Amino acid sequence: RDGETAPSPQHTQDRTAEEQHDAGDYSDGIPEFHNEPDTDPALEANQRWAEQVVERATSEWLAAQSLPATLDAAQVDALVAQARSAAEGWASRPAAERAAILYRAADIMASRRGHLASIAAAEVGKSVAQSDPEISEAIDFLRYYAHRALELEQVENASFTPDRLVLITPPWNFPLAIPTGGTAAGLAVGASVIHKPSSPTPHCSMALLECLWDAGVPREVLHGVFPDESEAGQKLISHNGVDRVILTGASETAALFRSWKPELNINAETSGKDALIVTPAADRDLAVADLVYSAFGHAGQKCSAASLGILVGSVAKSERFRRQLVDAASSMVVDRPQNLSAAVGPLTEQPSEKLHRALTTLEPGESWLLEPRQLDDTGRLWSPGIKTGVKPGSFFHLTEVFGPVLGLMEAKDLDEAIEFQNAPDYGLTGGIHSLEPEEVQQWLDQVQVGNAYVNRGITGAIVQRQPFGGWKKSSVGLGSKAGGPNYLMLFGQWEDVPGAP
Ligand code: SER
Repeated sequence: RDGETAPSPQHTQDRTAEEQHDAGDYSDGIPEFHNEPDTDPALEANQRWAEQVVERATSEWLAAQSLPATLDAAQVDALVAQARSAAEGWASRPAAERAAILYRAADIMASRRGHLASIAAAEVGKSVAQSDPEISEAIDFLRYYAHRALELEQVENASFTPDRLVLITPPWNFPLAIPTGGTAAGLAVGASVIHKPSSPTPHCSMALLECLWDAGVPREVLHGVFPDESEAGQKLISHNGVDRVILTGASETAALFRSWKPELNINAETSGKDALIVTPAADRDLAVADLVYSAFGHAGQKCSAASLGILVGSVAKSERFRRQLVDAASSMVVDRPQNLSAAVGPLTEQPSEKLHRALTTLEPGESWLLEPRQLDDTGRLWSPGIKTGVKPGSFFHLTEVFGPVLGLMEAKDLDEAIEFQNAPDYGLTGGIHSLEPEEVQQWLDQVQVGNAYVNRGITGAIVQRQPFGGWKKSSVGLGSKAGGPNYLMLFGQWEDVPGAP
């Protein structure tokens, strides 16, 4: 298969013995967790690698790659019954066996880095610079949840009954990491998993399922299906044999699923309207770099993206700061996916109505500090835009637009900045740049976001170090965060433990 002959990137670090295996055995146990390193873009060989993996990813090449099975409404009952029954054998295996398989899947995924990057580029135009860390994150999820499953096994018999069947409905913007995370978590606890790809990214889903099957996950336990009609999708999502639906997507999608089945057991990470505050006590150079990367990486198509920069006091008045922002944003490479330096690639689809409005119109009080430009005739490649003068309560202040536009707001002090940051209904990520500990503490006490970042960009949560999940309207039914110690506990039922509060 193509994945095995794809060129491999070079790593700057020496690889440890177990990393050099194509897929380790792990029957004697899994090694300590560590985060998988990304490909180093500074090495010239890796730049060439990125060009090669994307250049072969033509539409003809994509068409030759495998797709999940299509599913019609008449097939749903049989699929659910079969997957539920397969979970019995899977769950009865020791957690260590499942963990070993997940570790093998991680190794296989690492050996197919180029193949996966090619698929994401061909399918949704994701730049290699953006898919590369995403593949590392997917690998991290597999290994991290393998460890957590071993811990969970210690309490399992006492009070935890794992789900038998989990349905994963991932998004298209992180078509590799997010679906791997949910799938790995379900498999780790011993559930069967049905994986229903997002409609723009079925090949990405299939490529990661292949890593899991090739590692030893039984076919009857893990299914990739692509409903061929909305009726089949609706029937599957609302099926009583599905114990849990894991969704990452728009709040509207979560509401639609709930409208089909009000008692739906759903854990959803939904939209965001995320802001980064820059106070006069910030390291301004660092703040500029973090703000533009968080705003424009993957063309702003991240639920975690910085859509708002809230400039406090003298920063808001600083011409120099604005000039720096414009210079930094204009120097970002906007290009097709094969350019490993391109932080900004094409939009996955034509701009939505909301994004089109954000890219092309100004509301009262706003002006362009940097006007976005459409760079080619596909309508999908846009240069970064920065609008200033965004007013509290305005369209841009409160609406998620999911594209390469950053809005600047001016706050007289930190209190007002936090008020602006907390105003949207969402609460996913947020940040502050300040070297003043008291300001940082005040902010941490008051900000209403799931992922609060200090003196760092607000995208790119790292598994184990920065568990990811939202607050307010950014989260539905989520009590614990992806990539964190308690995530697996979502995937089952807890009995009352005597004496517990
Ligand atoms: N986990 C991603 C990030 O942190 C968003 O889904 O950017």
